[in-house]
Amino acid sequence: MSAGEGSALVTGASRGIGRAIALRLARDGYEVIGVARGRGALDALRDEIVAAGGRCRPIAVDLSNAQDTAQALSGLDVDVLVNNAGTGIIKPFVDLSLDEWRAMVDLNVNALFHVTRAVLPGMLQRGRGQVCTIGSIGGRSAWVGGSCYGATKAFVTSWSESLMLEVRERGVKVSVVMPGGVATEFGGKVPNEADRWKLTPEDVADAVAHVLAAPGSVLVHRLEIRSSAAPPKRPPP
Ligand SMILES: NC(=O)c1ccc[n+]([C@@H]2O[C@H](COP(=O)([O-])OP(=O)(O)OC[C@H]3O[C@@H](n4cnc5c(N)ncnc54)[C@H](OP(=O)(O)O)[C@@H]3O)[C@@H](O)[C@H]2O)c1
Repeated sequence: MSAGEGSALVTGASRGIGRAIALRLARDGYEVIGVARGRGALDALRDEIVAAGGRCRPIAVDLSNAQDTAQALSGLDVDVLVNNAGTGIIKPFVDLSLDEWRAMVDLNVNALFHVTRAVLPGMLQRGRGQVCTIGSIGGRSAWVGGSCYGATKAFVTSWSESLMLEVRERGVKVSVVMPGGVATEFGGKVPNEADRWKLTPEDVADAVAHVLAAPGSVLVHRLEIRSSAAPPKRPPP
């Protein structure tokens, strides 16, 4: 099976990077299964894809809920899984509430288990598939305010590498795409003029499409992308 054939499940497809990935993969020929909580936004995504001649099936579910996710994804055979859904609450550790900590761990870490375990056994049975997870350059090194979010993204990198070693000889490729800053509503922000230096969601979607389109004999395991522009300099304190 070559790139663009089959189905692609994209989590966090209702906005931002996941929506751009869903649109790109639909354009590349995949049937997209778009997953997020927001039913209205997923329906709008499906309408846009179908109007452009593509195929899309929305599934509304809270991926931090193990039971609901297992139920919503049961019986799905997919060729590509893009684990993109993620959340970030960036603040010093002493200011993080337990609920904020849990929200990040439940989605950025635990949902990888819920979603990947739902579709990976089928890929292994068929002897083919691709799992691409969105990490972050924020998971590569320490930074103030990133004690939990950065650690969840470090988890993504480590988990992806172990999984890659476990399944690559069984026909399943595992990759991680690590963007720098992307202009989205991540963390509840509305993108504005100050975000003009950042990558766009479409830049990340291009990177994912590139990873998925590698020849069968080539595994692009880790891809880090940054804006060629630098963030504006902050005035000294
Ligand atoms: N933006 C950046 O600068 C940046 C940089 C590097 C990496 N990343 C990573 O890129 C990924 C996407 O981020 P983004 O910037 O596109 O963020 P975003 O605009 O906030 O989108 C997050 C997506 O995840 C979904 N989501 C959130 N909670 C969910 C839940 N409990 N269950 C199911 N879906 C849920 C949201 O949909 P609903 O609200 O409808 O559920 C939405 O579709 C994340 O993994 C993030 O860590 C972002």
